Amino acid sequence: MATALCPGSFDPVTNGHLDIIERTARHFDDVIVPVTRNPQKSGSLFTLEERQEMLREVTAHLTNVTIGSLEGLLVDYAEEHRAQTIVKGLRAVSDFDYELQMAQMNQRLSGIDTFFISTSPQYSFLSSSLVREIAQFGGDVASMVPPAVAKRLAERFGTNASGEAS
Ligand code: PNS
Repeated sequence: MATALCPGSFDPVTNGHLDIIERTARHFDDVIVPVTRNPQKSGSLFTLEERQEMLREVTAHLTNVTIGSLEGLLVDYAEEHRAQTIVKGLRAVSDFDYELQMAQMNQRLSGIDTFFISTSPQYSFLSSSLVREIAQFGGDVASMVPPAVAKRLAERFGTNASGEAS
């Protein structure tokens, strides 16, 4: 069984994340999506449970994908879950430095390999932090996140799913 990890904070999951998870699921028998309990980025909008719930909803059509939670080191999680590969999306050169550093560190720690998938061009500008900011100020994020996520953002910020105050 070839098992891959697609880790992240997913606060919230975007169409760009979903694209990477869907494409990873085509190449591996099993894909686990470990969601970080305490994202390094300060001030998470959604709780771990909410982020996992949204991920479960939007990956429900992918039968080989399961959602997990990550508290310690990713390499330890990989060993516990017998995952041989980490898969990450690369949006632009700006992602590359940090992703390469993490890939090399993880390789040094346990020998695990990281595969990079290039983000589909229509999602190269997309990030959870921008989606949060746009939704917070009433902007329309309907084309950037799955409908279930747009609904949650609207509920959280008291706007309708197109970003208008309600
Ligand atoms: O979506 P993000 O926040 O960019 O994801 C970063 C993530 C979760 C992949 C990274 O922070 C991570 O692997 N965290 C687990 C702790 C760990 O193993 N740190 C050492 C990385 S070399």
